[in-house]
Amino acid sequence: MSVIILGIESSCDDTSAAVIRDGILASNVIASQKVHEEYGGVVPELASRAHQQNIVPVVDAALKRAGVDKHDLSAIAFTRGPGLLGSLLVGTSFAKGLSLGLNIPIVDVNHLHGHVLSHFIRKNEDDTVPEFPYICLLISGGNSQIILVKSPSEMEVLGQTIDDAAGEAFDKCAKVMGLPYPGGPHIDRLASEGDPKRFKFSKPRIAGLDYSFSGLKTSFLYTLRDNLKTDPDFIEKNKADLAASLQATIIDILLSKLKKAVEITGVKTVAIGGGVSANSGVRNAVAEYCHKNALNAFIPERAFTTDNAAMVAIAGYFKYLENEFCAYDAAPYARVQV
Ligand code: KG4
Repeated sequence: MSVIILGIESSCDDTSAAVIRDGILASNVIASQKVHEEYGGVVPELASRAHQQNIVPVVDAALKRAGVDKHDLSAIAFTRGPGLLGSLLVGTSFAKGLSLGLNIPIVDVNHLHGHVLSHFIRKNEDDTVPEFPYICLLISGGNSQIILVKSPSEMEVLGQTIDDAAGEAFDKCAKVMGLPYPGGPHIDRLASEGDPKRFKFSKPRIAGLDYSFSGLKTSFLYTLRDNLKTDPDFIEKNKADLAASLQATIIDILLSKLKKAVEITGVKTVAIGGGVSANSGVRNAVAEYCHKNALNAFIPERAFTTDNAAMVAIAGYFKYLENEFCAYDAAPYARVQV
């Protein structure tokens, strides 16, 4: 009999549901919330309300697109954390209610494991997946981590940010440039037209494999402040070069520790995941580094870089195969480590 997993993701501002049948993706539906745009960031209370409105139609659409009747589901996987508690509560409660109604188990998924395991989302039987162990550079709005992935359940954090995440560096610098939230994609777009060598921003000197992005942010701010004193149109005139130089510095910082991690572990496969892995510069730099060093590179499809339920369903599928189910009194958690 087929193993059919319904995945539900509601950790931040995207309501998503996906169906995975015997490890192959059957559907992945995402409803993004536009309501936050005018506030320059995600408003938690509005996010929870939008999840409540979206969850039934999104799950319905995912089942329909997959051609699956809810009575054929084997289990429901849901994001338990980390994320916004109110948002997580919507997905968690919905998963529990549906599983009770259908008399099938629930599987709780750590959102970060979902990003790390997103490379196992296959659309066809012959799609290739990483071999264990591999290194995953997990870069999102809340995390910047280098993870040694030994199996779907064994992950060792080799290094992580001691302050801001890479996505925060993109978003905060974009904000002071007057770009809309989230700024990462806008920087990416502008950077393609700018000179990455035009401005020099400071890079951290942190021992080991940990990251730091707050110094870069400060140095970016000082550059703007100093130049705006003499030229009020400085940002407007130089936005492409500012974006390109900022992006190049972030990539440099990310790659320097990633290379170190590969040297230390001797691992031959490198993957990237999380929202910032949608960045064109990051994708190209990782692909080029892997190509030059005969490493296998796994660069996710853009749809699987940001929050999506397909990664929750695949992470849940692995746990389902190990009979790792979740109790009904399991509460969502706002913070958690890989
Ligand atoms: O994984 P994710 O969707 O969720 C959270 O961590 O909440 O990551 C969101 C982050 C944001 O900081 C956003 O600016 C960044 O991913 N991001 C990008 C790009 N697309 C999304 N950063 C740089 N370039 C992009 N193309």
